[in-house]
Amino acid sequence: MPEDSATDRGNHTPATGQTDPTADGWLALDRQHVWRPYTQMKTAPPPVPVVSGSGVWLQLADGRRLLDAISSWWVNIHGHAHPRIGQALAEQAGRLEHVIYAGFAHEPGARLAAELAARAPAGLSKVFYSDDGSTAVEVALKMAYQAWRHRGQPERRLFVALDDAYHGDTFGAMAAGGVQAFHSTFHELFFAVRRVATPASRARGSKSPDLEAVLDAEGDQVAAVIVEPMLQGAGGMVVNPPSFLAQVRALTAARGIPLIADEVLTGFGRTGRFFASEHADIAPDLMCVSKALTAGYLPLSATLATEEIFNAFLSEDRGQTFFHGHSFAGNPLACAVALASLELFDELDCLGRVARLEQQYRERLAALETLPVVASTRVLGGMAAMDLVTRGAGGYLDDLGPRLTRSFIDRGFLLRPLGNVLYLLPPYVITDDEVDACFDAVAAVLAEI
Ligand SMILES: Cc1ncc(COP(=O)(O)O)c(C=O)c1O
Repeated sequence: MPEDSATDRGNHTPATGQTDPTADGWLALDRQHVWRPYTQMKTAPPPVPVVSGSGVWLQLADGRRLLDAISSWWVNIHGHAHPRIGQALAEQAGRLEHVIYAGFAHEPGARLAAELAARAPAGLSKVFYSDDGSTAVEVALKMAYQAWRHRGQPERRLFVALDDAYHGDTFGAMAAGGVQAFHSTFHELFFAVRRVATPASRARGSKSPDLEAVLDAEGDQVAAVIVEPMLQGAGGMVVNPPSFLAQVRALTAARGIPLIADEVLTGFGRTGRFFASEHADIAPDLMCVSKALTAGYLPLSATLATEEIFNAFLSEDRGQTFFHGHSFAGNPLACAVALASLELFDELDCLGRVARLEQQYRERLAALETLPVVASTRVLGGMAAMDLVTRGAGGYLDDLGPRLTRSFIDRGFLLRPLGNVLYLLPPYVITDDEVDACFDAVAAVLAEI
């Protein structure tokens, strides 16, 4: 429980009466043994004990509930503990929980690969499974790099990535990332990456060069360009226009340079289209998906590739194999859950729901924009964000983030600003009233800053 959460529970999240009397016991074990992600273990408040979930709600050990307005790190789309997904998982667990994926096949893996290829932008017909967003990115970077070696162009070693980029926390993904706070410690270990401006970073005064200038100067050494299409999440919920994405595709296509679309956050409807690449009607050469792929239930990711990249690995020489694989690659439980999630996605008309969310966000943000503490706002699909005026450091390490997180928890909301960027990104099952409740809470918390 956060230190300061004993008072002011907020009105709209009444306790359900369900409590977990064992929580003190297992929280003591947690305190003793658990090292949490993205958490300064010396100063962070104690973690919030969660015992169950239902829809957008998380049930806490002391009987309170929290509205999960950030989809638990952007993964959940159909709500917590959806019975259809639970059923798919249980059925698959009763049949086959896992099997090595090198040299073996199973039905959920095959069916999911076909579904993904059918829904992806044109040409992405090959599906390589891994475990999470970072590994999907590693796979894409390695595929692009190795394919050039097979084609006799080993000098293509450079990667090009965007200002504000975030692609994960493994080494390749970190090298491509552009958020200093997360990865600068490891900077000396990274491979060469040219960082280029986006319309959003240029408007903030970025001195990075334009993509075209970098490709004109060094294009013949570039292995791939990697982008988060339309929406850069961890970099601050930065939105770029479709014209920029179209331009990136045109510049790379003209030079025969592979484009990697990291749709780990943006896939599965988050930006209002099934994949964000559709906003600019482009098809990348490699595409990374994870997070909402399993509706947030199990770790799974996929890197989709064109036939052209796949074919660059076909050889009589076993040395030209793509030597990459994880123990749990293509896990059947995760694939079965992903298939159930895709069925629900269509049945529940999730794209229609996201379009209505976007509309409601715009209406509610219009009132907040007038507050002096709100510097700017933006909306894209199921994401609404605002930059807050701060006297702190700005960026991810701004103290405002943790302070606001605690205020929201006290009011019954899971909202976790990225420094001074406050955003909503809820599961699509959120109701209109629940969205209004989120914005009421935002208004109340902003009034206290
Ligand atoms: C665009 C993007 N790529 C990659 C990742 C890394 O995914 P994971 O945390 O599953 O490794 C993230 C995570 O937030 C992301 O937003």
